[in-house]
Amino acid sequence: MGRAVAELALQDPTVHLVGGLLRTRRAPGDLEAVPPGVQLTTDPASLLPEADVLIDFTAPEATLQYARACASHRCAFLTGTTGLDPGHLEELRVVAAHVPVLHASNFSLGIALLRVFLSVLARALPDWDVEIVEQHHRYKRDAPSGTALLLAASIRSARQEVASEIVSGRRGIAPRQPGEIGIHAVRAGGEVGYHKVLFASQDELLSLSHRVYSRRAYAVGAVAAAKLLAGRSPGWYRIDELLFPTLGQLA
Ligand SMILES: NC(=O)c1ccc[n+]([C@@H]2O[C@H](COP(=O)([O-])OP(=O)(O)OC[C@H]3O[C@@H](n4cnc5c(N)ncnc54)[C@H](OP(=O)(O)O)[C@@H]3O)[C@@H](O)[C@H]2O)c1
Repeated sequence: MGRAVAELALQDPTVHLVGGLLRTRRAPGDLEAVPPGVQLTTDPASLLPEADVLIDFTAPEATLQYARACASHRCAFLTGTTGLDPGHLEELRVVAAHVPVLHASNFSLGIALLRVFLSVLARALPDWDVEIVEQHHRYKRDAPSGTALLLAASIRSARQEVASEIVSGRRGIAPRQPGEIGIHAVRAGGEVGYHKVLFASQDELLSLSHRVYSRRAYAVGAVAAAKLLAGRSPGWYRIDELLFPTLGQLA
């Protein structure tokens, strides 16, 4: 993701890529040509004073380390790292008291919009059954996908049904219970990421689906959101509010 974000930032005339953070020092030949003026360093303190925003796609421990460094250097912090637990998120909220912070488990523009639409549908169709089908490549380790859980959370929160149950697959005698959201995980081939959400009544079916063709989709959303996050007041921001400020109010 770091490379995808850097490539996009270099192509965008409205962005100045000041550099990238590495975990360990590398020999110069280890990295492809780095444009002049772009600093690669293991030391956040040498880079962050130059930066308006840091984009992070790493791992939870690194995310917290970089977030704290951003707080010290008054640099906005955007992270797409997944697997953050409630304790990590709490620490990020502490950082948000000092600088603008945005965390999203899925930076694709389509998923951000899909969540807005799902909130509208969930409220408009409160009694309709909801089921989510997600499909990913054969190597994906976790199931259901974090994005499927995110979509279910948008629906539950719009319906104020936080107590409703999420059911992962069904087998045996397992009749649908009122209010439950079923999530079904398909693992096959090279699928990058496909999600389909079904709303169904006794008489109708409405479905919304989204497919990611490449990981570049996440980088596009991250760079777009980073441009909107830089220069804001300290605080905790949501991707839909930043990218779709008028539609976000529907969510
Ligand atoms: N929100 C979204 O839309 C979205 C999209 C895609 C991925 N993700 C998430 O973003 C994260 C990264 O994904 P990826 O596919 O880019 O993974 P990746 O290819 O494994 O890259 C992870 C990067 O983080 C660095 N890193 C890992 N642990 C670190 C540590 N403790 N300290 C400093 N640097 C560390 C790695 O450094 P080394 O090269 O030195 O190992 C590597 O550069 C994952 O959590 C993934 O689930 C989110």
